[in-house]
Amino acid sequence: MPPRVPNRAAIKAKYHGQKITFVGDSVGNGHVRDLALAKRFTKDTGIKVTVVPHPAASDQSYAQLARAFSSKSSSIDVAMIDVVWPGAFAPYLVNLKPKLAKQAKLHLASIVANDTIGGKLVAMPWFGDYGILYYRTDLLKKYGYTAPPKTWTQLFQMAKKIQDGEKKSNSNFAGFVFQGNAYEGLTCDALEWIASAGGGHYIDGGKVTIDNAKARTILDAFRTQIGKITPQGVTTYQEDQTEHAFDNGDAAFARNWPYQYGIGAGAGSKVAGKFGVTVLPHGAAGGSVGTVGGWQLAVSKFSKHKNAAIEFVRYMTSPGVEKFDAISNSNVPTIVSVAKNKAVVKTNPYLKPAIASVPRVTRPAKFLGTHYNEASKVIYQGVNQILTGTPASRVLPQIKSRLQQILNSK
Ligand code: GLC
Repeated sequence: MPPRVPNRAAIKAKYHGQKITFVGDSVGNGHVRDLALAKRFTKDTGIKVTVVPHPAASDQSYAQLARAFSSKSSSIDVAMIDVVWPGAFAPYLVNLKPKLAKQAKLHLASIVANDTIGGKLVAMPWFGDYGILYYRTDLLKKYGYTAPPKTWTQLFQMAKKIQDGEKKSNSNFAGFVFQGNAYEGLTCDALEWIASAGGGHYIDGGKVTIDNAKARTILDAFRTQIGKITPQGVTTYQEDQTEHAFDNGDAAFARNWPYQYGIGAGAGSKVAGKFGVTVLPHGAAGGSVGTVGGWQLAVSKFSKHKNAAIEFVRYMTSPGVEKFDAISNSNVPTIVSVAKNKAVVKTNPYLKPAIASVPRVTRPAKFLGTHYNEASKVIYQGVNQILTGTPASRVLPQIKSRLQQILNSK
């Protein structure tokens, strides 16, 4: 059950009857959670909240918000914004510092810093994210493995052996699934492959570094697995398709964000009790990493009900709601005390230090500001081209020169 709104009487007295629109989640059970929380908030405060799910692909929801902001539309009051957007959207967002600075102190300082632009707190951390590996414990055992893979090469070998066996009874079975579609998720996945192979982070220290031998090798290694241990269709998969394949019992390994844990362990999953999570594998010359993802809540400068909107954000980013979201939806809390809470850790084993302390890698948003989305598109389209058959040596020089142009145009 969603928690009650802590300061409900005071909010009701001031803002009762106002109407706000929240552009929220659409991946996994995110929309169901948003509706339940909005309903509780309305009941307690009398502020009516219309919840509109954003497009599932992060880059598409970016484009939709960018259009609304540039036309100064008052149709959006609160929006869920990706961890890579605060720099780009800051001019359109309300500074939440005067009202929410105290609550912000409860949240991880690094995310609060990410959401602070030019001294203004333009968004409040809502939930975090990092890439993890899901693996079938029952199948590892069945095929003689005692532990999940440590390197990508091991993962490819194990995936092949398990797939060869399982395909006999399930023609849909795949060794490994991930987010291979040409969209923001692929920028996240490929960052993990490349960084975990010692190939950098696309742009390092303001310089484009993507066209290097280690990046080429790992990207080509993934390319040659398409259609072998992954279905051809993985090049169109986003998060939901990945989760469906794994939770339907059709994959041995999956890369996804923590939200998949709760769905996999829940009613309706075919793999409940049969899977584990761990850090992602790494390349020959690197170590395991996880891409930093996550979502913030922001209030639009064009909102006609800014105060009511801020109270909604206060509620949604409160310890009670983060605990509820972590336990019912397995989303990563950004409030330090909630992430350590025993009940939260019990339902979310990816919060155990051995997994949660994996080095995090970030997308190059800080070098790109308002050009991030454009640059990420160059990256994910290029990587998707590699996955669909073009050797990395032909694609990486093009990505490099286009990223260079974007950096120069700033
Ligand atoms: C998750 C992450 C977000 C990322 C997106 C890509 O939602 O939290 O940061 O951009 O996946 O698909």
